[in-house]
Amino acid sequence: MTTIHEPVLLQEILDGLNPQTNQNYVDCTFGGGGHSLAILEKVKPSGQVIGIDWDPTVVQNSQNENLILVNDNYRNLKKIINGLGISKINGILLDLGLSSDQLGSGARGFSFQSEGFLDLRYDPKSDRPTAADILRTYSEKELLEIFKNYGEEPLAWQITKKIITQREQGEFIETADMLVQLVSDEYRKKYRSRSKHNPATRVFQALRIAVNDEFGNIKNVLPDAVNLLAAGGRLAVISFHSGEDRIVKHFFKKEAIKEEPKIKIITKKPIIASENEIKMNPRSRSAKLRIIEKI
Ligand SMILES: C[S@@+](CC[C@H](N)C(=O)[O-])C[C@H]1O[C@@H](n2cnc3c(N)ncnc32)[C@H](O)[C@@H]1O
Repeated sequence: MTTIHEPVLLQEILDGLNPQTNQNYVDCTFGGGGHSLAILEKVKPSGQVIGIDWDPTVVQNSQNENLILVNDNYRNLKKIINGLGISKINGILLDLGLSSDQLGSGARGFSFQSEGFLDLRYDPKSDRPTAADILRTYSEKELLEIFKNYGEEPLAWQITKKIITQREQGEFIETADMLVQLVSDEYRKKYRSRSKHNPATRVFQALRIAVNDEFGNIKNVLPDAVNLLAAGGRLAVISFHSGEDRIVKHFFKKEAIKEEPKIKIITKKPIIASENEIKMNPRSRSAKLRIIEKI
């Protein structure tokens, strides 16, 4: 398996989940497998890790007989685990979003430089709309909401207007670089200078979240994850987006204050990356880790 993805908050995940020999774990977002492989080391010789990833290009590391890889949406966690017949789950991890492997690959429009079709689905076989479909068919109001709510995009209005005007002239955005060009033009018009960061980052993030219904996936998986955990088992969620973190935080709070709570909150405040990790891996800058324990 070749990966360039650096697992974020790895030691904090190991400390928080505390995997022990012969226990079973689920990594709902396998990606490059960095977290899974570290957990596998701790649960050997007979503990298992079930690694789930919606992206079919994430391939099985056949070297490890204690790793079961499943190509599916983690939203189907309950069905996946029941189907495998594993009854005791000691810990579950969600490391949300996109991996560096996907960002770097240029496939499916994840990379800004790509001239490839603007798909942005983790699984190109899924029945979700592609990003190009959304840009071609969603109403002005829907596009504006996506850019504002999922991307916190300051030029959401200008970018939406431009997409709509072009559409009316029969011009449709089909590739990643066409979208980058449109967003860069709007930024140049407004600010007259080129910024250091690619101004299209937020628009791509917003579309990716909408295409894959990422907030819906998180809302659906959290209650099932809690139900699947054995007593004393832990659920750890790393998010990179304030909207995702809000969903996780509210769900944990709501569950923890119930009359007969099933969980207790382990991280009163989210754990963030150390200065050192941020220096080594800038992607970790926006990571927030929240952990609960099943009672
Ligand atoms: C941040 S990466 C995980 C990296 C991994 N922890 C590592 O250390 O290499 C997130 C992964 O989750 C996958 N993913 C995103 N949404 C998913 C979903 N709904 N179901 C399953 N996998 C999903 C992506 O394809 C990506 O590979």
